[in-house]
Amino acid sequence: MSASPDLSAFPKGFSWGASTAAYQIEGAVAEDGRSPSIWDTFSHTPGKVAGGDTGDVACDHYHRWPEDIALMKELGLDTYRMSVAWPRVVPGGDGPVNAKGIDFYDRLTDGLLEAGIRPSVTLYHWDLPQVLQERGGWTVRETAEHLASYASAVAGRLGDRVSQWATLNEPLCSAWIGHLDGVMAPGLTDLTAAVRASYHLLLGHGLTAQAVRAAVPGARIGLVTNHSPVEPASTRPEDLAAARRMDGHINRWFLDPVHGRGFPTDMRELYGVELPERQGDLDIIAAPLDWHGVNYYFPVTVEDDPAGPIHAREIRLPDVPRSGMDWPIDAGGLETLLMRLTDDYGVRELYVTENGSAFPDTVTPEGAVEDPERTRYLEEHLAACASALRKGAPLAGYYAWSLLDNFEWAYGYAKRFGLIHVDYETQRRTVKASGRRYAELIRAHRAATAP
Ligand code: IFM
Repeated sequence: MSASPDLSAFPKGFSWGASTAAYQIEGAVAEDGRSPSIWDTFSHTPGKVAGGDTGDVACDHYHRWPEDIALMKELGLDTYRMSVAWPRVVPGGDGPVNAKGIDFYDRLTDGLLEAGIRPSVTLYHWDLPQVLQERGGWTVRETAEHLASYASAVAGRLGDRVSQWATLNEPLCSAWIGHLDGVMAPGLTDLTAAVRASYHLLLGHGLTAQAVRAAVPGARIGLVTNHSPVEPASTRPEDLAAARRMDGHINRWFLDPVHGRGFPTDMRELYGVELPERQGDLDIIAAPLDWHGVNYYFPVTVEDDPAGPIHAREIRLPDVPRSGMDWPIDAGGLETLLMRLTDDYGVRELYVTENGSAFPDTVTPEGAVEDPERTRYLEEHLAACASALRKGAPLAGYYAWSLLDNFEWAYGYAKRFGLIHVDYETQRRTVKASGRRYAELIRAHRAATAP
C-alpha cells in the first residue's frame, strides 16, 4: 500500500478531526462536584494500572482547554470528538444535574465553535459513576435507563450548538475487557456479568438515541464500535471455526443487533447465558442511526483453543510490524472493515472515529518530537480510507486517536498516542511531527477542494 494518501479520493467537506475521552485528559476529578467513576476506583486499586497511574490530573484539560482548542486550530481540525463525563454532570448517577459540571461542557462547546471547530460528543466513554456500579453497574437494566436520562440532560443543554452525538464508545471494551478479562474497570472476570453488561450497554445505546432525538430535533445520532477483521491461523476446520467464533465475539455480537439482525444465535449458544430480554428491546437497540463510527487499530489472527470462553486464541504472526502497544500494524484491516460496514451492514454514513498508534516519543533538546513511525501509520491508514472511498464506502470523516498523549487506561501514561506530546511534569504541549504532517494533509485537501 502506498504511504502517501491520495487526497483526491476524499470528498469536499470531508471532516478531519481528532478524538479524546474525558477521563483520559480532564483530570480535576474532585472538582466542581464531580463524583468518582469506576475508573477512579479501578485506577486507585493497587496493581490495576501500570505504574500506579491514575486520571487524577491527566492532561489537566479541565483547566487548560483554551490552550488545547488553540492547538486544534493550529492543526486545522474541522471537528473534535470529545466525551462528556457522566459523574461530572449527574454525580448521583441518576437525579439532579450538577450545574458546574454541565457548565464546563457548555464553555468548551462555545470555545470550539468560536475556533470554527465542530464538536462531536460521545455520551459514554467508560466513566460510569461509581454509585451506579454499587447498584449493579451494567449488569442491571436500570443503568441503561439512567444513561438515557443523563444523556437527555446533556443534549438538552448543548443541543442548540452540538448536532453530532454518539451514544457509547466501544461497548466491546466495557463489556468484554471490563467484565470478562478484568483488565479494565470494573475489573470483573465473569462471563454472565459480561454478557448481561453487553446487552444493557446496547439497550442503553438505543434508549439514549431515543432520548437525544427527543431533546434535540435534527440531532445526528450514531454509535461508536471498535472492531478487528479476524483471520484464521490456518485452513484447518478447527481454526476456521475459531475465527468465526472470534468474529462473533468482537464484531457480530455488537454489529448484528444494532443493524437489525438480533444477537447472533451461534454466540448465544456458545456463551450459554440467558439474555435479560424484554419485548421491544431489540427494536430499541436497532433504531435507525444517522451514522456509524468505527474505531480501528489492528487485525487479529486466531487459532482453535479448547480453553477460554470462546475457544479461540489470538496468535502472534512473525515479521509483522508492531506499534508500541505491541499491536500488529496493518492498514489493510481498516479498508476491510469499512467495506464490511458498507457492503454487509449497509451503513449509509461512516466515520473512522478513532485510529492511531502509540510509540515511545521523546522531546529533543531543540524541543521537537520526531515520530516517523506514527506519521507512517497515519499516512497508510489514510491511504486505506482513500481506497475504501474509491470502492464506494460512505466515509464522511476521520478522527485521529488521539489529539493529546493521555491516560491510556490500564497502561497509564506509559503509552503515548497523541499527535501532540504532553510532558506530564510541566503539562507542556508540543505538536509532534505526525501532528504537523496531519495538518499539512488537511490543508492540502482543503485547498484542493476549495471552490
Ligand atoms: O485510548 C483508547 C480509547 O479510549 C478507546 N479506543 C482505543 C484507544 C487506544 O487504546
